[in-house]
This record gives sequence, structure tokens and C-alpha cells, in this order.
Amino acid sequence: MSTPSFTPRVFSGIQPSGDLHLGNYLGAIKNFVEMQEAREYETVYCMVDLHAITTWQDPADLRRNTRELCASFIASGIDPEKSILINQSQVPEHAQLGWVFNCVARMGWMGRMTQWKDKAGKNAENASLGLFAYPSLMAADILVYHATHVPVGDDQKQHLELTRDIATKFNHDFGVPFFPIIEPVIKGAATRVMSLRDGSKKMSKSDPSDASRINMTDDADAIARKIRKAKTDPDPLPDNMAGLAERPDARNLVNIYAALADMDPQAVLDQHAGSLFGHFKLALADVAVEKLAPIAGEMARLMDDPGEIDRILGRGAERAREITVPILEQAYDIMGMIRS
Ligand code: TYM
Repeated sequence: MSTPSFTPRVFSGIQPSGDLHLGNYLGAIKNFVEMQEAREYETVYCMVDLHAITTWQDPADLRRNTRELCASFIASGIDPEKSILINQSQVPEHAQLGWVFNCVARMGWMGRMTQWKDKAGKNAENASLGLFAYPSLMAADILVYHATHVPVGDDQKQHLELTRDIATKFNHDFGVPFFPIIEPVIKGAATRVMSLRDGSKKMSKSDPSDASRINMTDDADAIARKIRKAKTDPDPLPDNMAGLAERPDARNLVNIYAALADMDPQAVLDQHAGSLFGHFKLALADVAVEKLAPIAGEMARLMDDPGEIDRILGRGAERAREITVPILEQAYDIMGMIRS
């Protein structure tokens, strides 16, 4: 099969399930903005509300969280003119291609997903069918745009490998190189931001301790307080990264500093080697407040006008469907579905 060339196009998404945090920002949103500004790609960014409902969402919370996520994208630098900004359920082709991929993907592939195992845990019988099929809808999100590049944090790597498997199987089954084989973009010093209370656990919205994460809505005081209280150790900072190999809490703070300040982690150590954490945390709090507090302020301002956010999402959906409708039509046609 000869490989056609695809328009360089970026797609990524975040669940509007509340408590957007520093991990989402450094692992995902910051790269979304950089890829938008690179001008090498068309960029499409999505609030994946259909993914959020794979676990229970209160309707009023979902509505608010979707608008808040949209506000955080814009406040972080995503420009709705330069990028297409959408809410997943407003572009029905995602769910339509998701069904097709439910018929392409195999049960065994889904059962091996570590996020499924983590989220369903021992209670898989009681998990929603949607939670099991989650990665197949994710593949559809990406491939319904023929996207080529997908910026995500490290925890989504396995889902993106599965997206490649689904595209490969579809192309092979129907004998046409129709879907691109995507490139994951997992880059920066903080592809896996860890909890501020336990450097061996990922920073996550599901952690019951609010002190474990910096939320994108936190003000300057809250950001500084959480960094001051972050777990560390009594040793000074070493002069190279190998010296942090067995110190996950310390390494996490150095990586966060590097990502926020757009530096290499080694450059952070060049500046701070020999410092104790009391001192380093003050410097980290300054960088974090400088970068994050204005985003929180702008989010609050945007949230005062939900009508404007809804208009942006409505316009985004129109632009998105110019891409997704023809791609879905072609996929249906390839499979032998009558189009008249
Ligand atoms: P979600 O909503 O869990 O997370 C959104 C993005 O944030 C990244 N992330 C992190 N990065 C670094 N450190 C952390 N502690 C951290 N926590 C979260 C995630 O890797 C992700 O990039 N399945 C996706 C949403 C999705 C999607 C898509 C992504 C649906 N369709 C299509 C890409 C393309 C998810 O649940 O992300």
C-alpha cells in the first residue's frame, strides 16, 4: 500500500471533568499553544465531553466544567481564530466513527489498557461499557480529522499506540491507506507531573488531597502555599540529574521548574546546585505564580461571559465539520455503506 501524504494536522483533547491541574497544563495545554504558534500545522483542540460521561457527571457540573476548560485553553494562549476549538458532542462524526472503530478494535486490545485496569479496578462488572470502549472513541477523535500529530502527557502513550493499531487494521482490512499512522508528541521537561504530596504518584484530579496538585483556578496565595508544603527531602540539590534518580519528590519539583521556566532540567540544577529546598521552593513559587496566576485571572474573566464561550464552541464545531463530514463519508463509502 503506498502511503498518501496527509496535511500536517494536530488534534488533542482534555476531559471536562473538573479540577484541571498543572499536569494538564505542562503535559498538554502548553504544547498545544506551542504547536499552534509553530504555524506548521492546522490545530484542533477538543473538550471531550463524551469521554467524561464514561464515569458519572452531574449535568450542571459538566456544563460548567466544559466552559471552564474552554476558558483555560483560551487563557493559556489558544486563539480560536488560529486553532479550531470544539466540544466533542457538538461534532457528531466523532461518535459515528467511534462506532466504526468499536467494530475494528478487538476486545483483547481494550482489556490490556492500563487506564481501563486502573479505573475499572476490581469492579469491572460495574464499569460502563463506554469506559471499556473509551480508547476506540479517542482514536476516532483523532482520525476523523486525519490528524497526523497528537500532543499528550506520558499517560496517554498506550492509547495512542492503540490508535495506530486501529488505523493500521482498518487500512489493511479494506486495502486502502485511508487513515494516517499518527505521531505522538510527548515533549518537555514535565510529560509526567507527579503529586506534590507523593512523588511516586501522578498528579491527578482524582487524588482526594487538594494539596497534591496545583489547580489551574488556584490564585497566587494557593499556588505559593502548595509549593511551600510540597514533600521534599533534607538534602541539597545535586549538580546533575543522575543525583535525583532516587529522589522522586525532588526530581518532580526540578522538572516542574524547568517546564514552567522553559529551561532544561540540567540548566535548573546549574543555577540551584547546593540549595536547600526551603530556598528552591521560594524560587519555584515565584516562577509558578508568574506563569499561572495570570491564566487563572483570565479564566475567571472569560467565565463571566458564558454566552461568548458557547459562541466560540458553536463556530468551532462548524469549522470542524468542514473537515470531519467528508472524511466520515469516505470511510462509510470504503466500508460499502450506501451514500445517496
Ligand atoms: P485527560 O483529560 O486525563 O488529560 C488531559 C491531558 O493532560 C495530560 N496529563 C498529564 N500530563 C503530565 N502530567 C500529569 N500528571 C498529567 N495528567 C494528565 C494527559 O496526558 C492528557 O494529554 N484520553 C484523554 C483525552 C482524549 C484525547 C483524545 C487526547 C480524548 N480524546 C484524543 C488526545 C487525543 C484523557 O483522558 O486526558
